[in-house]
Amino acid sequence: NGSAMTDPFGRTISYLRVSITDRCDLRCVYCMSEDMTFLPRADLLTLEELDRLCSAFIKKGVKKLRLTGGEPLVRRNMMSLVRSLSRHLHTGALNELTLTTNGSQLERYSAELADCGVRRINVSLDTLDPDKFRAITRWGDLGKVLAGIEAARKAGLAVKINAVALKNVNEDEIPALMQWAHDKGMALTLIEVMPMGEIGEGRIDQYLPLSLVRARLGNHYTLIDLDDDTGGPARYVRVSETGGKLGFITPMTHNFCESCNRVRVTCTGTLHTCLGHEDASDLRRPLRASASDDELSAAIDRAIGLKPKGHDFIIDRQHNRPSVSRHMSVTGG
Ligand code: GTP
Ligand code: 5AD
Ligand code: SF4
Repeated sequence: NGSAMTDPFGRTISYLRVSITDRCDLRCVYCMSEDMTFLPRADLLTLEELDRLCSAFIKKGVKKLRLTGGEPLVRRNMMSLVRSLSRHLHTGALNELTLTTNGSQLERYSAELADCGVRRINVSLDTLDPDKFRAITRWGDLGKVLAGIEAARKAGLAVKINAVALKNVNEDEIPALMQWAHDKGMALTLIEVMPMGEIGEGRIDQYLPLSLVRARLGNHYTLIDLDDDTGGPARYVRVSETGGKLGFITPMTHNFCESCNRVRVTCTGTLHTCLGHEDASDLRRPLRASASDDELSAAIDRAIGLKPKGHDFIIDRQHNRPSVSRHMSVTGG
């Protein structure tokens, strides 16, 4: 079945995000609680199954594939999956194979990623202060991430930095982070905290609307709207003074669902058609039920047919409850 996937609102699905593990070597405070219970390894799809699942989506019109986690680079032997998926780049079926990573393992993997046809990666980095970095990630080593970013650049990968804007944590550092990224020719994308998963402390205290950040930056910098489209949710501006690109991902202050082109699959083969909804469809059963992809393809179509119009994230000041119970690390964003 090679027909394009279109949802009930006429949106064509061309971007698949696959969380290949829910595990991570860090515990960012907005993402995870300190003591996370991870999925039993036996529940995970094998790398071969993930390959088959991704390939089925590519056959159905996915052009952009992003591996996420958790931290994708901590899954054992994950390079064999990247290597195998790169065949779809060679045939032209896939336009982009990419990754979102916390950067801690990039010294080890950058050269091989580039060799597999990965051209750019997104690295999550919220601060350049080693102590703050340790506080946000609970134990992360900033030096390792910076070395990872350098290794990626040296391997020829374009790097985009993702920073979650956190009130009273990195809010004062945003101009410095931007300057640092732009000096290296890297784009910086800012992200609003989304109320996903129980994290055991006040997310409300972390939430910083990017409308405010943008207004503040506008007092010191000239921001020129761009109509760049990476296929992701960010809206970009050019910063005249630095010459660099700055992106804003604003699920809370400006909903971008009407142009949504993506779905995500977890490492257990659950399809989530929206980051901000509990809706879930099991693809593991049809994947394992038959060696042919017919049943799987039909299950994908059924799921896409249920894609909601948009998320309903809210910052619930009264109850301080997440809008969606699963953590970002399960769905990978
Ligand atoms: P580019 O290919 O560079 O555009 O990347 P991307 O923004 O598509 O991917 P990335 O993994 O860098 O995601 C950045 C942030 O955007 C993550 O925090 C995701 O959770 C968030 N994001 C991606 N897609 C969606 C979405 O459909 N809804 C919401 N609310 N957030 C999303
Ligand atoms: N809200 C917003 N962004 C989040 N991330 C993880 N959890 C959240 C959340 N609750 C970010 C990470 C990474 C990206 C994949 O998602 O920092 O950049
Ligand atoms: Fe790990 Fe990324 Fe979550 Fe931080 S945001 S704990 S690096 S999965």
